[in-house]
Amino acid sequence: MIPGEETRKPISAIVLGAQWGDEGKGRVVDILAADSEVVVRYQGGANAGHTVFADGNKYVFHLLPSGVLHPEALNIIAHGCVVDPIALAREIKGASDAGILISPKNLIISAGAHMVTPAHRFMDSLLGGHIGTTGRGIGPAYSDRAQRTGIRLSSILDGSLRRLWGAQALHYRRVTERLHEKEFPDLDAQTNLMMAAAKLLQPYIGDTAAAIRSAIWRGKNILYEGAQGALLDLDQGSYPYVTSSNTTIGSAYSGGGVFLEFDRRIAVMKAYATRVGNGPFPTEQNNETGEFLRGRGKEFGATTGRPRRCGWLDLHMMKPVFAANGFNEIVLTKIDCLAGLDKIFAAVGRDDEGKPVYQAFAGWGDVAGTRLYGKLPAECRKFVEFIKDYLRVDVTMISTGPRREQIIL
Ligand code: IMP
Repeated sequence: MIPGEETRKPISAIVLGAQWGDEGKGRVVDILAADSEVVVRYQGGANAGHTVFADGNKYVFHLLPSGVLHPEALNIIAHGCVVDPIALAREIKGASDAGILISPKNLIISAGAHMVTPAHRFMDSLLGGHIGTTGRGIGPAYSDRAQRTGIRLSSILDGSLRRLWGAQALHYRRVTERLHEKEFPDLDAQTNLMMAAAKLLQPYIGDTAAAIRSAIWRGKNILYEGAQGALLDLDQGSYPYVTSSNTTIGSAYSGGGVFLEFDRRIAVMKAYATRVGNGPFPTEQNNETGEFLRGRGKEFGATTGRPRRCGWLDLHMMKPVFAANGFNEIVLTKIDCLAGLDKIFAAVGRDDEGKPVYQAFAGWGDVAGTRLYGKLPAECRKFVEFIKDYLRVDVTMISTGPRREQIIL
């Protein structure tokens, strides 16, 4: 036993988006991953876009856990995720080309995870328009899982993939040609792409729940990385304008397969609000303020490049979100992007017509790169204190810029 090792208490943490995604989770996970030995993705798929700025480079991860930037961390894509083998193989190759070491030693993908196939992507492009989906085939893949007609990654190991995919493709070809009068993508080309990707992924496929159990027994620090945000939760979000998985804390258990009492349950919350895709957004500012926030915060989708809808922070909506997830920490992101506004608002209730009631705050000047809480302008600290008091949860980190070091801890 290494001296000191016997007294070390392992830490388990979960990082979740508290709004509609794009709160800056990738960045927070990247910081926490430095002290984590295992990083787990357990829901969602390549619809996520986690942006991390490190060592002067910008990385956008879709399915890969953000822990891949830390060579010692073991990264896990658990069975609750839906995995597009073609997209993941491309992502692994892209990361490797950028000098990020990825091998079966630091990445395990669950044999039980369901596959997103080219048919799912195609169906999403036909059906997902009114929701404003990312077009990554997420809804159709989770639908097949629920209907028990899905294909799991275990099919790569047992050799059944070609047969199962062939049957699924035929089914969706009939559906698209008969019901939608659309031409299905070239089957041979898609099959070749799938099989090539499957070959590349084969060595990574394993039993991820066993890997998590083993990490717990060995006293490792474990970090769970949520994707999307609580307000996009399939059950608790603004249905039908939601994603097709549960984005709240319960998914960590169903999607990871192991119970653990998370010591740190971290809400990542942007100092304002953004949403991509359709659906209600009570504090949306479809005006100059919205434009200002979009410009300042570079609010364009990391996955699709779509401009994000922007508005004020909605604390009223955060109350049930915090209750659902049992958050005990808040990471407040992009506080620097509000600098320069005369007045800043946060919704704290609703009036008789259901419209947001706002609390106004005095604006503040440039805070980009500030690393000490005491150095923030008093007005900015008032805003932070108000959030803490309103939600009754401590703010433990505040980001003041996109780079790794631009954060108040
Ligand atoms: P889907 O997850 O692609 O089916 O899209 C459903 C809804 O969730 C759409 O409004 C998407 O824009 C939104 N969405 C999915 N993933 C993300 C994400 O990572 N960030 C923000 N919005 C997302």
